[in-house]
Amino acid sequence: MFPKDLLSLENIPLEVMEDILDRAAYYKHHDVEGAFFSTLKGKNIAVSFWEPSTRTRSSFELAVQKLGGNTIRYSPEMASEYKGETIEDTIRTLISIGINAFIFRHSSPGLVGRIARMVDIPFISGGEGCYQHPTQALLDLFTLRERGLNLHGLRVVMVGDILHSRVARSHFYALSAFGAGLTLVAPPVFLPPELVPPGVDSSHRLEDTLPRGDVVYLLRIQGERQEKGLIPSLREYAALFGLNEVRLLLLKENALIMHPGPVNIGVEISYDAIKMLHKEQPGRILIQDQVKNGLYVRMAVLDLLVAGKVN
Ligand code: CP
Repeated sequence: MFPKDLLSLENIPLEVMEDILDRAAYYKHHDVEGAFFSTLKGKNIAVSFWEPSTRTRSSFELAVQKLGGNTIRYSPEMASEYKGETIEDTIRTLISIGINAFIFRHSSPGLVGRIARMVDIPFISGGEGCYQHPTQALLDLFTLRERGLNLHGLRVVMVGDILHSRVARSHFYALSAFGAGLTLVAPPVFLPPELVPPGVDSSHRLEDTLPRGDVVYLLRIQGERQEKGLIPSLREYAALFGLNEVRLLLLKENALIMHPGPVNIGVEISYDAIKMLHKEQPGRILIQDQVKNGLYVRMAVLDLLVAGKVN
């Protein structure tokens, strides 16, 4: 049974996630010489981002185009909300025009789910507040699986602003569904004990946890979601929790480094560490692979939810 919407990974069965990863592999394998597909032929997909995005928005738009569908962009500054229409009425208006599915990013947790329940066409989250970013977690899993890694038993050490991270919250479900272990590392203000799910390790000491990771997953410090400065300064955060050349020596020999982007170079990872990795061990830093694979995972999600096509 395919889900109607993809807003969270909480209730998505393992076999559906595996199906998405398999479909993504199909599209990546067949994406040669600018190949296009007809999976979404005749479908109109609204792409509505109420928060900034580079990776998610552009890869979703390209995914729709590669699958032969039409994208209809609408954003707050273009929409009739500015003339007093409610967001619910705007959605109904767009459905009347012929929209077949929505891709939605919004800062308010719960809003996308409330609207999705109102209508019977698919809603796909492009990131919702601090709540969930399901396609990011799926593309991360795809990227690791593509490396030939068995996710079962893999240990991911996730470092950074866990408190505000929708990526972390999606991974709480995604990594555990595939049997991977997760260790969260952050200063206490970014890692309140009530946030740590059962079965997940946590620590405030980076040096103790880095040697355990098969993957070190860095999270952005989200200044825009902090009502007041929770940390004294980015410089102090970088000194205590940033990945630098010295800390790279603590990692397992082949440990991989991931980040959902955008990266604050000099905060989550130092410029010298990035330079050294690119020069000496480029295969260990997966950030551009994650971005690239976002296209195929989003094609797969659209395929499953909107077209319902079985390859
Ligand atoms: N990772 C991510 O969601 O990036 P964007 O904000 O650029 O979409």
